[in-house]
Amino acid sequence: MSDRRKSTRKKSAHKKAVPEVAARGKHFLSDKVSHFTESVIRDMTRQAMRHNAVNLAQGFPDFPAPQEIKEAARQAVAADINQYAITWGAKSLRDAIARQMGVWQGIAVDPEKEITVCCGSTEAMISTLLAVCNAGDEVVIFEPFYENYGPDSVLSDAKPKFVKLRPPTRPDGEWTFDEKELRHAFDKHTKAIILNTPNNPTGKVFTRAELELIRDLCLEFDVLAITDEIYEHILYDSTEHISMASLHGMRDRTVTINGMSKTYSVTGWRVGWAVAAEKITNAIRKVHDFLTVGAPAPLQEAGAAALSLPPEYYERLREGYRVRRDHLIPALTAAGFTCFPPRGAYYVMTDISAFGFSDDVAFARHLVETIGVGCVPGSSFYRNPRNGARQVRFAFCKKPETLDEAARRLKKLHAK
Ligand SMILES: Cc1ncc(COP(=O)(O)O)c(C=O)c1O
Repeated sequence: MSDRRKSTRKKSAHKKAVPEVAARGKHFLSDKVSHFTESVIRDMTRQAMRHNAVNLAQGFPDFPAPQEIKEAARQAVAADINQYAITWGAKSLRDAIARQMGVWQGIAVDPEKEITVCCGSTEAMISTLLAVCNAGDEVVIFEPFYENYGPDSVLSDAKPKFVKLRPPTRPDGEWTFDEKELRHAFDKHTKAIILNTPNNPTGKVFTRAELELIRDLCLEFDVLAITDEIYEHILYDSTEHISMASLHGMRDRTVTINGMSKTYSVTGWRVGWAVAAEKITNAIRKVHDFLTVGAPAPLQEAGAAALSLPPEYYERLREGYRVRRDHLIPALTAAGFTCFPPRGAYYVMTDISAFGFSDDVAFARHLVETIGVGCVPGSSFYRNPRNGARQVRFAFCKKPETLDEAARRLKKLHAK
């Protein structure tokens, strides 16, 4: 057969295959992925880049990571720590995590049996949910919530039950929840509560009394607490971070999730961890092993160095963020936003009613395209987008000059 005829045959065979598949109606996608969209936060970063806007959307620092830990990473690579680490984490890092949980929260942890190092706290959370949830299990989540928890629940077949956090009614007030509404969310199907303190996006830091209330419900309904404590060291106004696992009765029914991203300004390194009782840890380790095998080996060594930084490092971190918070909030207020000042983490939630926009998405688009500042529409933190339609979130983990430039651009905004 001539080459020409061969290639014509190939082409027609190829052509035939396409309508056949389409005719059978296969769409090749899992039903799960139709239940969530791509991250709005990360999309806002792309939009900010497209419009050359100041990006106050996604929570990553635009200033350098600490010199000491960059040096530790360099040394680890040079020393050829470049192959797979132990699946559940390099010993040096697990030892450092266990030591520091003792120092900071008075929690005794066995680094051999109770820690799983993951690719960021993002992976620690999904590995945990996959390890503990069966189809139909319910998971209680405070709303507004960090957007990952929605897709995480879908992927792990859990059914989220949302409990409202209500914004403060006074500028110096706190986000609060209704005790009855929280109790109502617990029943015999409840497997876990996801608790994020200090909280993204509200900046709420749960008090001991609030944590004890949640603890009592966990004990009464035999529920696991999964706590995302990634902003543990970013606190203002003399607030104190309390780990749920440190409360009496909660040590063995809490999975404590944390990571390097925020405390050490290395969101791109992807090193986080889950700390839990041995049996739960074994399950998390199994999921983690088959999801990612392990977190980056040299960066885990640098993680051990990071966790050995002196207390002054954390004081400087806190003070640096307090200055940034107190830099951005007056600029937002002057531009017409009502701000809900955070007690922890590095975001400020705002009310945008003064600007007269139809919703938060239209406002965020205007802000990024016309004013040149990126923010996150409030609706991305709520199950029902209407509940966030009058809110947007700004991140202030930025250099003073970045915040100055944002403040300069925000002056162009007009409240109605
Ligand atoms: C509450 C919360 N948890 C987890 C993450 C992601 O953490 P990691 O970088 O460790 O995956 C973020 C990032 O913004 C966050 O705000």
